[in-house]
Amino acid sequence: MALASIERLDELPGDLCAALRRRFDDVGFDRRVLSVAADGAAALFEGLRFPLARAILETREDPGSRLALLFTFAGEVPEESARDALGPVAGDALVAAGVLVRTPGGALRSAYRVTPYEGLWIFTDHLVSGSDTVMVPGATTGRLVDLMPPALTGGMLDLGCGHGLIALVAARRGAAPVIGTDINARAIGLARFNARFNGVAAEFHVGDRAAPVQGRRFELVMAQPPYVARPADSVAATYMHGGALGDELALRFVAAIPPVLAEGGRALVCFDSAVRPGTAPTTLVRDAMGDPLVDLVLLLEPGLPPEQQAVAYASVEAPDLGPAYAAAVRRYHRHFLAVGAAAFHHVVAILRRRPPGAGGAAPFVHGLSTAFLAGGTSATIDALLESLDLAASGDDALLAAAVRCSPCTRWVDERPRPDARLAPAHAVRFGAGTVGTNRSFEEQEYALLSLLDGCDSVAFAIERFAGTAAAPSDGLRASVLGFVRQGLTSGLLEPRSTAGR
Ligand SMILES: C[S@@+](CC[C@H](N)C(=O)[O-])C[C@H]1O[C@@H](n2cnc3c(N)ncnc32)[C@H](O)[C@@H]1O
Repeated sequence: MALASIERLDELPGDLCAALRRRFDDVGFDRRVLSVAADGAAALFEGLRFPLARAILETREDPGSRLALLFTFAGEVPEESARDALGPVAGDALVAAGVLVRTPGGALRSAYRVTPYEGLWIFTDHLVSGSDTVMVPGATTGRLVDLMPPALTGGMLDLGCGHGLIALVAARRGAAPVIGTDINARAIGLARFNARFNGVAAEFHVGDRAAPVQGRRFELVMAQPPYVARPADSVAATYMHGGALGDELALRFVAAIPPVLAEGGRALVCFDSAVRPGTAPTTLVRDAMGDPLVDLVLLLEPGLPPEQQAVAYASVEAPDLGPAYAAAVRRYHRHFLAVGAAAFHHVVAILRRRPPGAGGAAPFVHGLSTAFLAGGTSATIDALLESLDLAASGDDALLAAAVRCSPCTRWVDERPRPDARLAPAHAVRFGAGTVGTNRSFEEQEYALLSLLDGCDSVAFAIERFAGTAAAPSDGLRASVLGFVRQGLTSGLLEPRSTAGR
C-alpha cells in the first residue's frame, strides 16, 4: 500500500475536521471499541490479529465499530455503510482530500490509520514497511504516556515525536510550550495535522534529535527512539531501526538530552537495549549521556528474546505472512546470531537535572531490575527518585528520616511443604506498577523491616532493634544504615513522606 500524500491533508477545512472529531466522539470510536476488537492478541503481531479484529467488527452494526473497522483496522467498508457511520460528515470531502479512497469494488478504505487515545484521534500511516512510514502509537508510546505526570507546567519536548501523540497529551495536561522534533518530514507533517485536527497547541520541527531546539531548555523531555536491530539487507525504516544492535540511535538520543534539560527537569526515554556481556547497562548509557551533572536511573525489564523479535519485526515488514515474511524472519534470525545479540532489556531511562540549591550528594547512576513496571505512573518514578535521594544523603539525614515498605509490595510466608512445623521464609512480592525484584528475607531482616516500617525514624528503629537483638545500637548502626540504603535503592523501601501515594 503506497503512502498517501499528506500535503492534501492541509486542504481539509477546519470545520470538516471538527465535524469528524465530533462524530468520532459521539459514536464512541474510542479505546473501548478497539479493545473489543483487538486487545486479546499481542500488540506487535498485526498480521495475525488484524483479520480477527476485522472479523469481530464486521459482525457489529454500530457506527463506532464501523468507523474503527474503516479507520483503525484498514477494513474496506461498503460505501453506503461507511456513509451511515459518518453521519453528517461529508464523505465526499474526505475522499477529495485523500483521507478516504474508493476501491474498485465500490467500498471505501482509509488512506490513514486513526488511533483514538485519551480523547485525541491520531492519524498515522498503516504499518507498512518503507523508510518514511509514520508509525502507529504502540505499547511503548502508551507506557511513556502512563509515566507522564497528570498535570504539567513548563516546557515539554517530544524527541522523535512521530505522529505527535506524546506532545499533544503533554499540551492537554498543561505543558507549554510543547515542541516535537523528528527527522522524518512526513512525521512532522502528520504531527502538525494531528495538532490541528485535535485543536491542541504544539509546534513541530524537522531535524536530527534536539537540533531544532538548541539553546532552549525543557522541564520535561520524552522520547521513544527507534530501537530495533536492523539486518544490513533489510529496508531501513526510520521509525523502527536503530542500528546493528538496535540501541545505537537510542544512545545518541540520550546524549542529546542533557543540553536541553532545564534545571529541575526530567527526561524519560524508552527503548530496548542489547545485553553486552561484561558491560553494565548503566555504564553503557552513562557513557553515552556524557553529562556528569545529570542523575541517571535505568529501570530494566526483560526484553523480547531475539527469536520473538525476528517473528514480530518480520511480520511488520511483510504483514501478509507469506514468503516475504519467511525471508524476513530468516534475515532477522541470522542477523541476531551474527551480531551476538542473545538477550535484550526493555529500558526506561530517567534523566534528572537537579534544581539549583537542591544540594545532596553528587549526581548518581542507578540501575534497577524489575518485572512489574507495567501499570507504573509518574508517582512510581517520583517515589523512586525520592528514595534514591534519601539513600544518597548523609548518615544523619537518613537516621532522622522515617521510611516504610513500598505500599505496593505484598508479603508472603513461604514453606517448602504444607507443613506448619516448618519455619516460613518471609518473601516480598512486588505488584504491578512497582520497581523491584521479588526476594526472601531472613527472620532478623524481616524483624528489622517491620520496625523500620512502624517507627518514626530510622534511629528509633535501630534502638528498638538493638533491644530485641540485645546488642549495642552503636554497633548496629552502620549495618542497618547499609540495609536501609539497599532497600531504598532497590524499590523495597521509600521515605514515608513520599508524595503521591
Ligand atoms: C519509535 S518512533 C516513536 C514515535 C512516537 N514518539 C511514539 O512514541 O509513538 C521513533 C521516531 O523517531 C524518529 N527519528 C528517527 N531518527 C531520528 C533522529 N535522528 N532525530 C529525530 N527523530 C528521529 C522517527 O522518524 C520516528 O518518528
